[in-house]
Amino acid sequence: MTGAEHLVRKGILDLKPYIPGKPIEDVQRELGLTEIVKLASNETSIGPSPLAVAAVQREVPTINLYPEGTSRLLREKLAKKFNIGDDYFIIGNGADNLISLTGMAFINNGDEVITGEVTFQAYETITKIMGGEYVPVKLKDYYFDLEAIVARITPRTKMIYFCNPNNPTGTMVKKDAVEKMMETVPDDVIVVFDEAYCDYVDEKGYPDSLPYVLEGRNVIILRTFSKIAGIAGIRVGYGIARPEIIGYLRRVVDPFTTNRLGQAAALASLDDTAHYQQVLAANREGKKYLYQELDKLHLSYLPTETNFIFIDLKRDSQSFFEQCLRKGVIIRPGKIYGCPTFIRVTIGTHSENEKFIQALTEIIG
Ligand SMILES: Cc1ncc(COP(=O)(O)O)c(C=O)c1O
Repeated sequence: MTGAEHLVRKGILDLKPYIPGKPIEDVQRELGLTEIVKLASNETSIGPSPLAVAAVQREVPTINLYPEGTSRLLREKLAKKFNIGDDYFIIGNGADNLISLTGMAFINNGDEVITGEVTFQAYETITKIMGGEYVPVKLKDYYFDLEAIVARITPRTKMIYFCNPNNPTGTMVKKDAVEKMMETVPDDVIVVFDEAYCDYVDEKGYPDSLPYVLEGRNVIILRTFSKIAGIAGIRVGYGIARPEIIGYLRRVVDPFTTNRLGQAAALASLDDTAHYQQVLAANREGKKYLYQELDKLHLSYLPTETNFIFIDLKRDSQSFFEQCLRKGVIIRPGKIYGCPTFIRVTIGTHSENEKFIQALTEIIG
């Protein structure tokens, strides 16, 4: 039997499979631990909205039926929330799915796709799958460098993926810099604003990307129910763009991309402002606590506008990650992002944060 390498699409030969945060069950099995804290995937530690849980339970008896393929009710509810038409929305199986759709709909062989050098891996994956040329641009002090990105645009550039706030750095680029970029980006370059963490932003000056969509620019905004809404396990995200662009994305989406339970959970979570406020308050408190403890340990970290912190241990973080695992705390080592001395730690509940700080103190102490 011969190998299959020659059969594979060229673009994917140098791709590495995505390495997700290590699941709790794997750590339990491998290390025989029972109490495990997972601060590796930027989930909502305080759990989903109770309204979402109840909605899922109500929906369960109907899972013999296909879902409504375009998530009409959810689009209508989002349309009300944003005060625009429901034809400005596409619902996907998580924002991950929408990132893939942007690539499937727009990236041709040889198109250049620009993004930051240290950012969410899905942009590289879909670019390469589609045969595009991936153009990572160095961050400036761990912030997306929009001037350098604009300077890198050529006639072959098709798309810019702009993650704001950025994963894994947690840093946010402000309105002025974004306005400047949008004044210069040629109209035939599509700008994808990945705003998965926008709800956590505390700092003033977060750019409002919606006016670009309403002005008719080639802009796609991506949002998710996985973070502040706390329903990562059921996979719902949405894209906002002018109807023509939504129409192209809909040509490449799976017919039933978002399932019945996900749609019900997302709809209900939009009603639960109390849960939203609770998640936000817990995140603010956790951030304050972690900053304070990291300062005591004289560790450097980047200011975060998200529900995670990127911490520079100034030493190899892979061995720290393994030591942390043995203490029952799962974090994310920075090597996967090309930052081998960093760790990315999700802001958890107070007891989870304490457990992480205790492990950190024991290991680096
Ligand atoms: C920047 C960014 N975009 C998109 C996603 C994907 O989110 P979803 O769970 O909606 O697929 C993530 C998930 O961590 C993310 O960090």
